[in-house]
Amino acid sequence: MAVESLTRAGSTMTEEARSLDARYLMQNYGPRDTLFVRGEGTRLYDAQGNEYLDFLSGIAVCPLGHADPDVTAAIREQAGKIVQTSNYFLAEHRGQVAKRLSDLAGGDALGWRTFFANSGAEANECAMKVARRVGVERHGEGCQTIVVLNGSFHGRTMETLAATAQGWLQAPFQPLPGGFRSVDRNDLAALDAAMGPDVCAIMMEPIQGESGVWVLTDEYLRHVREVADSHDALVIFDEVQTGLFRCGRPFAFQTVEGVGENGVVPDIFTVAKGIASGVPCAACVARGDAATVLTPGQQGSTFGGGPLAMAAADATLEKMARLRLDERAERMGAYLRERLATVPYVTQVRGKGLMVGASIEGHDAHDVVAAMLRDRHVVINACNATVLRFLPSLVIERADVDAMVEALSSLA
Ligand SMILES: Cc1ncc(COP(=O)(O)O)c(C=O)c1O
Repeated sequence: MAVESLTRAGSTMTEEARSLDARYLMQNYGPRDTLFVRGEGTRLYDAQGNEYLDFLSGIAVCPLGHADPDVTAAIREQAGKIVQTSNYFLAEHRGQVAKRLSDLAGGDALGWRTFFANSGAEANECAMKVARRVGVERHGEGCQTIVVLNGSFHGRTMETLAATAQGWLQAPFQPLPGGFRSVDRNDLAALDAAMGPDVCAIMMEPIQGESGVWVLTDEYLRHVREVADSHDALVIFDEVQTGLFRCGRPFAFQTVEGVGENGVVPDIFTVAKGIASGVPCAACVARGDAATVLTPGQQGSTFGGGPLAMAAADATLEKMARLRLDERAERMGAYLRERLATVPYVTQVRGKGLMVGASIEGHDAHDVVAAMLRDRHVVINACNATVLRFLPSLVIERADVDAMVEALSSLA
């Protein structure tokens, strides 16, 4: 009886949320039906009390799972002390978080410096502003073009959309800012041909996430660094989705073999998503002249680097490193990819660590996602009609992988 009335109250709560959402929110995400009210580790709970296995983790956002006790304690403590002061003042944790990013990315010898923002798009905006300033400082006016990859995704602000070389995303918002040239991924000759004296930077995701989990080859990434160096241009890696332990190392650029411990080291990289376990936070991290080119007034943010986000990021980064979640992501990712390959309608499995995509045939991926949620209470994602995407928290267990794959296979 008690359970029944709880379910009824949950259904009423969900219905109310659904009707307010449909009436008062812009419908840019389409209709939404499920109301999650609680999370714990790799599990989510809806308003009716149903449990779901989460293989999306807020789109690669909750590396330690939901409601991690240490991060929760850090957020609670900071919220009770001070939430906002402004970037006119120092903030507890801010310098420490920037140091942690520097340490993870190769340490002091590389001279990393960070700008804190609130979203991946905003961090990428900073990266592009820096690149254009460096281009002009090094080579004079006219050195402002950024080479990007077809199928890229760098965000939804006007400038990051201009860097997102996907026609269907750009078309409704013309005219977009200029200054971009796009080439196909993994095509060395096309990259060579796109370079010229007007190019200040080459920008890419080490694995293209939103367009289908397409991995850039080690050979290609090494070539990117060489070509950039030979043109005295910058390399920008957008590690918003690949970064922060997900791909088996702290950053995906460190997984590139044949060029030393830190792989292909960019001049600038950006991170967001998991850095503060879901509290909005992002970072643009740069070295060399890219780290020092911006002068006071050229870049800023009201909220970026605020005390609450910094406390959450400090606790998140400390715990991820302590638990060696990069190694765990590599291990569990290998197991996930191996198991996904057994699903009857999966034709190819791609990715690194726990950033995984699976091409499928005979089903629409969006229907698979909906059926998994509705019938099997498992949260996964579709990049498009033919690619399923898996971005679980980094604390996922083998038994969770088995349960998810069993559910997927049962839809065959
Ligand atoms: C590679 C990449 N860059 C940038 C973004 C934009 O991040 P945000 O939504 O936080 O602005 C995303 C978001 O999915 C992303 O995957």
